Amino acid sequence: MTPSLPLARPPLLVEADGFAVADQVAGRLHEALASGRTLGLATGRTMEPVYRAFVARLRALPPQGRQRLISSWSSFNLDEYVGLGDGDACSFAQFMALQLGEPLDLPQGCLRLPDGRAVDPEAEAIRYAQQLRAAGGIGLQLLGLGRNGHVGFNEPPCRPEARCRCLTLSASTRQQNAAAFGGDPQAVPARAITLGLAEILAAETVLLVVTVAEKAEILRRSLQEAPCPEVPASWLQHHRGLQVIADQSAASALCLS
Ligand code: GLP
Repeated sequence: MTPSLPLARPPLLVEADGFAVADQVAGRLHEALASGRTLGLATGRTMEPVYRAFVARLRALPPQGRQRLISSWSSFNLDEYVGLGDGDACSFAQFMALQLGEPLDLPQGCLRLPDGRAVDPEAEAIRYAQQLRAAGGIGLQLLGLGRNGHVGFNEPPCRPEARCRCLTLSASTRQQNAAAFGGDPQAVPARAITLGLAEILAAETVLLVVTVAEKAEILRRSLQEAPCPEVPASWLQHHRGLQVIADQSAASALCLS
């Protein structure tokens, strides 16, 4: 076991590395699913080891137990690129199918995401928010952290009242996500549909997962500076159910005394 360092506000676990982080997060996802909570799911490189650990956990269960969990599965993803959807190699729909849908043999339509191919993306954002409301909102919201402080695709500046919507991605986010598009930031779609901070902050529990040293400074600003629109993740400090799990390198700029 790696040493974990609990902090009072927000509860923070610092794990030795990304594998230990993934294991912790997979355990939280398993618990949430087992207690019938709706999962808010995220994409991005941070989530790849998390989903591998989650799949391994569920696959290790006796078949009946695993089937029970899968049959009660309810999840909503944070976001999708406008113009991309099911079957597009770079879509978040495809990322989720590869990471969870196929390895867990989830029924079609189980993993809900905004439809990036909708003819009217603005209307699709409204429909998706209504679908989430009708399902009773999110129980456990999993979040990664963008290098500019975005969560989901809530780009700075962003206020906590922002709702599910269609927006234009920043140049830095298109650069950050270019690797999945052959390294070309121009190939990254210019727009996306994202749940807003309002829907994220309405979740019962928010689990922010941060790994790698490049995110140390933005994690410090998110947790230890006054909330502000320039760092969208900083509004998470207002959430009473916020939990943070980071590896040592991502936590290296935090003041832990
Ligand atoms: C993407 C996603 C976010 C994700 C973030 C971090 O843009 N929309 O939901 O948290 O970037 O990505 P990564 O884990 O690859 O650093």
